[in-house]
Amino acid sequence: MGMDTANTLPHVTAILNATALGFLVAGFTFIRAGRRDLHKRAMLGAVATSALFLVFYLLYHFTAPIFVFRGTGTVRPIYYVLLISHVVLAAAVTPMVAVVLFRALRGTFDSHRRIARWTLPIWLYVSVTGIIVYLMLYHLYI
Ligand code: HEM
Repeated sequence: MGMDTANTLPHVTAILNATALGFLVAGFTFIRAGRRDLHKRAMLGAVATSALFLVFYLLYHFTAPIFVFRGTGTVRPIYYVLLISHVVLAAAVTPMVAVVLFRALRGTFDSHRRIARWTLPIWLYVSVTGIIVYLMLYHLYI
């Protein structure tokens, strides 16, 4: 992969991640307001943008060298706590999202809601820390 693509991909994944976050917040707002159809559409949007995100993210990390964090001092341990918790919880939430989606599409909404109430906050944490890590790595400490 050319350098230009390698330089662009992190920004593309950040935009996809921010879009997924928007869908997630909208989807939560919709279900709290009892708008089930809008909830369904927003959550399918979140799943689709996150799947696209994952494709570009893996493509990037399989092809580009690791970008070293340049911050020094106190911000370094903060960065690594965010990064490691982000990666671990991202791996954990992925199968949970699959289960949440499967239960919704099967129409078993009681069991959907039970696991969704755990999945959504973890997913939100992963999404928000993904944006913070991106900002720290590519914009704030350059
Ligand atoms: C895959 C991503 C999804 C997530 C993270 C998600 C999340 C949630 C959450 C957190 C709730 C509980 C809200 C509350 O009571 O506090 C909920 C309820 C619900 N969701 Fe989803 N949802 C997703 C996909 C879907 C889809 C695709 C559908 C439709 C096919 C759907 C239909 C529903 C319905 C009908 C409820 C209400 C269940 C009830 O109270 O009996 N969800 N969802």
